[in-house]
Amino acid sequence: MTDTALRGESQQPDGPAVLEDVPGWFWDHDRHSFEWFLGRQAKDGVTGDLMELGAYLGRSAIVIGEYLNPGETFTVCDLFDSDAPDDENSSEMNISYRKTLTRSAFETNYLAFHEELPEIIQAPTSVLAGGRVPAGAYRFIHIDASHLYEHVADDLRVARTALQEQGVVVLDDYRAQHTPGVAAATWEAVFNHGLKPIMLTECKFYGTWGDPEPFQRDLLDRVDLASGCYLSTETLNGRQLLRMTGDSTGIGPFRGSRHVQRLGGGHPESRGSLRTAQDEAALDLAVRRARAAEARRPVNVAKRAARDLLPPVVTSAIRRARRG
Ligand SMILES: C[S@@+](CC[C@H](N)C(=O)[O-])C[C@H]1O[C@@H](n2cnc3c(N)ncnc32)[C@H](O)[C@@H]1O
Repeated sequence: MTDTALRGESQQPDGPAVLEDVPGWFWDHDRHSFEWFLGRQAKDGVTGDLMELGAYLGRSAIVIGEYLNPGETFTVCDLFDSDAPDDENSSEMNISYRKTLTRSAFETNYLAFHEELPEIIQAPTSVLAGGRVPAGAYRFIHIDASHLYEHVADDLRVARTALQEQGVVVLDDYRAQHTPGVAAATWEAVFNHGLKPIMLTECKFYGTWGDPEPFQRDLLDRVDLASGCYLSTETLNGRQLLRMTGDSTGIGPFRGSRHVQRLGGGHPESRGSLRTAQDEAALDLAVRRARAAEARRPVNVAKRAARDLLPPVVTSAIRRARRG
């Protein structure tokens, strides 16, 4: 969550066609990073459960759910339309989420991309403490619920117990001015509770209680890393950590939802061809939206929006279309 405007098109009446239709605070670099960590686990045959604390309308959950294997569980914990457990959390909810958030909107968005819902716990994340979550069962946990110190520190304690040895935890907003509680809880876990940073992006911290070096080696070797992602190394208290910066070059669009088919995806028979048709339709939709946005906006704003919002494959398609 950032204090800048919520990224995401308005909710589409029939459900989202592309991931960008789902409002949220989940940018390309982090989507690519989630896909990188989860894709690496898939390649290495790592199995285990997945968890997201704080799902909002599903933008990041939809991406995590893409990596769920048969027999594994994806647990999502969010208050959705329930009451917050304390006044501070309640005002956080009122300021940032209340106007738009319902559990049913989350479910509609999620089911546009997946056959089945994750396991939903509609409650404060504090209910996960005290043994509700099986120890060592999880391979990936995204902490993005309350951004208040006490809550994040508790969420980190849950994650530490829940993760398997080489499991990955991701913390949202570990460095924003309006979320000092996340920064405090994150670095407290690093300095006092054995959490090891793997990589930092502008918005998220990626870490493990296991060994960060194998992840860092593959990142530095650029295994499956998009060309626009630049890595630099830092040393923090004797340990290496990586920083990712750059642009969206080489980060393809997330596949389209089932609603993309009404835009011309047809009725492909296999999952593979479904993806191809959906990707093409998603690309087509993104190009048409960018053209419409360009027609509406002053030139410099449109250029900036296209550069910030669109994957390079789309921007080059727009350039080709303009030349044509
Ligand atoms: C920043 S949003 C999550 C954004 C989402 N991960 C994304 O990338 O689109 C934070 C979410 O945390 C939920 N939340 C806030 N406090 C919570 C708490 N104490 N327990 C569970 N969920 C909470 C809010 O309802 C909201 O949906």
